[in-house]
Amino acid sequence: MAKFNLKPLKKQAQKDLNSVKDLKELDEIFKRYLGKKGKLTQVLRSLEKLPKAKRVKIGKEANQLKNFLGIKVNQKVEDLKEKVRKKTEEREWIDVTQPGKKPVLGHLHPLTLVKRKTEENFQAIGFSVVEGPEMEKEWYNFDALNIPKDHPARDLWDTFYLKNGLLLRTHTSPVQIRFMENNNPPLRIIIPGRIFRHEATDASHEINFYQVEGLMVGKDVSAANFKAIIQEFFNRFFEKPIKIRIRPSYFPFTEPSFEVDMICLNCGGKGCSACQQTGWLEMMGAGMVHPNVLKNSGLNPKNWQGFAFGMGLDRLAMMKYKINDIRLFYSGDLRFLNQF
Ligand code: FA5
Repeated sequence: MAKFNLKPLKKQAQKDLNSVKDLKELDEIFKRYLGKKGKLTQVLRSLEKLPKAKRVKIGKEANQLKNFLGIKVNQKVEDLKEKVRKKTEEREWIDVTQPGKKPVLGHLHPLTLVKRKTEENFQAIGFSVVEGPEMEKEWYNFDALNIPKDHPARDLWDTFYLKNGLLLRTHTSPVQIRFMENNNPPLRIIIPGRIFRHEATDASHEINFYQVEGLMVGKDVSAANFKAIIQEFFNRFFEKPIKIRIRPSYFPFTEPSFEVDMICLNCGGKGCSACQQTGWLEMMGAGMVHPNVLKNSGLNPKNWQGFAFGMGLDRLAMMKYKINDIRLFYSGDLRFLNQF
């Protein structure tokens, strides 16, 4: 009876076991021979139908084969598990003697570096740092600064008006008023901040840039104090004596008003694109705070006087790092930014 010829069954089972690749396949082979409906299980089940002599003989052989296959399957399970373990080990192996990978760290933008250095230098000579809003009321940006609605001086600043009735501040000067409304003199502050102007851009003009406002008010603060402080700041900031010049100018919120230029450090005063070939770069507007501005802030101009200035932080950065085009700061070009 071919059905009870166990030799071919053993041969086929061995062949199947030799070619098994993973535990899933092994499970299938186990079921094929030793499962409920497995080939060997069926042989064992049909033994009872056989005559006694045959039953004893075939029964012995079948049980031997069952034990044999059981051992083989267990061995295979161990082999396959070992294979998996080795593969995992290879994949997860770490050479603990290798030097670690350095994480890539970001760095500060040049304008942030200049802002911080400016703050440090002014703090060292007794100024506090104050901030104000970028969206501003017309009152603070213009009216309180002695620039009435239809005054032609408003045209000096090309303004972005917002739908919510506010505007994007065109300078840091409105924070002067906000601060004086709430603080009594004597006072000495700087106000770094971002500002916006709807104007054409070139190598030294952006539509979005940074200023640092300065304000010093006391009983007898003078233009001579301004000159000394600003010269001191430049020398400290650039860590060498810096040539500056002060020219008369006009701002509605100061009287008298000046502008301060510094010698262009990019060309040493010879003339280049950064200084529009003049050898000088305009760094700030300044002057003695207009009595109307003091009044609008709730201070009596008979008791108090002071100076104010608004300096271009981007221009400071251009001179510090010898950058000949302000637009590079906002370009997002990593080749430029990674130099700092
Ligand atoms: C003002 O903004 C006045 N609020 C300054 C001031 C403050 C005067 C307090 C008196 C008292 P002005 O528009 O000139 O002034 O700008 C001041 C400085 O900002 C300039 O000297 C220049 O350094 C910088 N600046 C002006 N326009 C631009 C621009 N488009 N891009 C980059 N920097 C600019």
